Amino acid sequence: KLVTVVLSGGAGTRLWPASRQAYPKPFMKLGGSSLIEQAISRGQACGTDQLLVVTNQEYLFLTQSLLAEMADPPRPHYLLEPRGRNTAPAIAMAALSCQQTHGEDAVMLVLPADHLIPDTESFVANALEAARLALAGHLVVFGIQPTGPETGFGYIEVPKVGRESQAVLRFVEKPDLTTAQNYLATGRFFWNSGMFCFTAKSILTALAEHAPDVLGAARQVMASGSDEMLPASGSVGSAKVSMFDAHTFGLQPDISIDYAVMEKASNVMLVPARFGWSDVGAWPAVAQAHTPDAAGNTMGSTEDTHWVTINTTGTHVQVDSHGHKVVATVGVKDLVVVDTPDALLVASKQEAQNVKRVVEMLKERH
Ligand code: GDD
Ligand code: MG
Repeated sequence: KLVTVVLSGGAGTRLWPASRQAYPKPFMKLGGSSLIEQAISRGQACGTDQLLVVTNQEYLFLTQSLLAEMADPPRPHYLLEPRGRNTAPAIAMAALSCQQTHGEDAVMLVLPADHLIPDTESFVANALEAARLALAGHLVVFGIQPTGPETGFGYIEVPKVGRESQAVLRFVEKPDLTTAQNYLATGRFFWNSGMFCFTAKSILTALAEHAPDVLGAARQVMASGSDEMLPASGSVGSAKVSMFDAHTFGLQPDISIDYAVMEKASNVMLVPARFGWSDVGAWPAVAQAHTPDAAGNTMGSTEDTHWVTINTTGTHVQVDSHGHKVVATVGVKDLVVVDTPDALLVASKQEAQNVKRVVEMLKERH
């Protein structure tokens, strides 16, 4: 039994103002549909109709309304978090829920809801291979061919980078720049995609061994839970919703699965990704997801936008305010311009990583 587990609790502050607390990255539309719909479709393409969504309670109705728009609307089970506690608790709760509902041999395909993977066919082939390895007891990660010494990713060492699945020698979450550079020079490292595949049993065993505090706290949370059925309404199907005691929930350690388990476990297998992948970390990644015109300009608007360009190159414009808007750019290059009803961003592509500092500064002011 294959269960798609979608994680959509994080915020993604580098995509401000399109992604923010009330409307985070998984709900951004990119290429016609939101990233969370795309993640769920990928799970469906793997032939499973079991869907577990772990998300913040604030995002339930937004999620439900997006899923209603899908070609094949799923009937998810939601685990609703009163607050973010990072991915280790989220995955521990998902594993306990899967074990209870589907049995300990259920294979969990854990998909962050904010990735862009254009090639579903290759993804499915890789995911089914991962599911086979998971059934053999491995914790499976998907390796991405690195393109530079990024410090925002996990690094996975294998004996030799190749096209076949292989046992992982070492997993290092977010090394510093010098370390990342050294890793790349050896030619033995992949990036971690952030997607995982394992049976409920394997990940619960690994949590018990390497992060017993996370597992213990998650068990308490699950014991505090109460379930409810959301009735179908309009095009939105019914859904099972589990809610938890906020105090018990807050007692969980704030730690990612990468630090809590993946760095420590010895039974990790890597499937080299044969699909294109982006975690849409910052605006240049959004620009790259659109087809550029002859001058390298891209338009990400969901609204009716008329863009007049004069001597403009390499620039991304996105208008998410309501209704028709005329935008003109004159004599600029490599900019990101994002307009929303209550916030306007003008940034150079080079410094797009610094957009997260805007969010930090705004938080300090409030
Ligand atoms: N439900 C829930 N609750 N989801 C969460 C929470 C939470 O508390 N925290 C994060 N998530 C979701 C995010 O929405 C995202 O989809 C996913 O889990 C990963 O969290 P990030 O916060 O984006 O992790 P990261 O980007 O720093 O690092 C991870 O992803 C990289 C690839 O994008 C790691 O797995 C790295 O090793 C990996 O390279
Ligand atoms: Mg991320």
